Amino acid sequence: MERYPHLKDTDSELYRLIKQEAEYEAATLKMIASESYASYSVLEACGSTLTNKYAEGYPGARYYEGNEIVDQIENLAIERGKQLFGCEHINVQPYSGSPANQSVYRTLLKTGDKLMGMPVPSGGHLTHGWKVNFSGSDYVQVPYGPSPETGKFDMNQIRETALKERPKMIWVGATAYPHKIEYSDFKAVADEIDAYLVADIAHINALIIAGVHPDPVPLCDIVTSTSHKMLRGPRAGFVMSKTDDRHKAKYNPESKLNLSQRVDRAVFPGLQGGPHLNVIAAMAAAFKEALTPEFKAYGVQIAKNAKMLAEALLEKGYALAGGGTDTHLLILDFRREEFTGKDAAKALAKSGIIANFNMVPGDPRSPFVTSGVRLGTPSLTAMGMKENDMRKVAGWIDRVCKNIVRIDEQASQIRGEIAEFCKGFKVPGCC
Ligand SMILES: Cc1ncc(COP(=O)(O)O)c(C=O)c1O
Repeated sequence: MERYPHLKDTDSELYRLIKQEAEYEAATLKMIASESYASYSVLEACGSTLTNKYAEGYPGARYYEGNEIVDQIENLAIERGKQLFGCEHINVQPYSGSPANQSVYRTLLKTGDKLMGMPVPSGGHLTHGWKVNFSGSDYVQVPYGPSPETGKFDMNQIRETALKERPKMIWVGATAYPHKIEYSDFKAVADEIDAYLVADIAHINALIIAGVHPDPVPLCDIVTSTSHKMLRGPRAGFVMSKTDDRHKAKYNPESKLNLSQRVDRAVFPGLQGGPHLNVIAAMAAAFKEALTPEFKAYGVQIAKNAKMLAEALLEKGYALAGGGTDTHLLILDFRREEFTGKDAAKALAKSGIIANFNMVPGDPRSPFVTSGVRLGTPSLTAMGMKENDMRKVAGWIDRVCKNIVRIDEQASQIRGEIAEFCKGFKVPGCC
């Protein structure tokens, strides 16, 4: 079946590029930890006529007429989101993960307030207070991160910093932390200093849904997420919050709004205009899929695959940041090698293994080259790969890393083997 018959007809240049990208992804091992594959249903909703719609406001309270049907669509996404995560309130309008996080600042902080978050080189996201981002220039980041020795959070150290600096909010979440996050430990610290506790689960939401990672929703004031990445929805964000502001007396005595109402105000009209109804519809479709036992099995398998990949690489003598993984990602630690993380990521990509270079805890190299490579298993798991396949993947990674200086001689052979191997799997939504 021709996937894009109209585009093929009207814009062959764009058609060719979209097709090429799908073929490229189907013939390579996509190991970017923040990616997976959306289903045809999610893609159809995302590409639907809802793209034409304007509906500023919220269901039942729009600034445009003619929104009775799209109100039902947004409510469907809200109800499914609540069911999926067991949250009191969910706002499904943020255009992506960064705007979702931006709404948290607008809800909880004033310009110049202190927040505790992880710097990007420690594994945090730009929006957790990093200096080049609005969150670092308009607010003051008190940094924390995994210990350079163990690669894991040292809660005594984190508590000490929190007691000394007394931030108003603590972000818990990461783009590159391979271990489980114990939210109850962070909650204890936040409670000691009357800080808001906010989790960003963009990277790990499917693991939480599958029950293989602790759940922050019951413990945190606000939880943000993306609906793409391992959740396999459209590119968008959502914000879950408690109704009650437990620090109201201290920080917001005047406010007539509860916490979830303040989140809604922050998203619209605070930061955004019209919601993307096509994307919200696709989010509803993704939430429905995420409520199935099959999705839970996928979440469980992501973690099993990452563990097996880590085990296989450790057996081959590789060092991993933090010694391994209990999430969806692992970080190869090349500090003792002459080549950099960037050298390795480029050689892997040439050979058909797509990943990204990444800092490791205590990295002596610059963020522009790093000593690490981050590898994730969500996409391979979505294709149907299991633990025995991870052993093969580890074998190819090993061949590339052992041959970095002469990768040009080896790459096409390895790439061919991987393309052949990938033919044994189905790429959801692609082919
Ligand atoms: C932990 C975390 N939060 C938020 C985001 C931001 O998402 P987006 O790229 O959709 O703005 C990312 C993206 O990588 C992320 O890793």
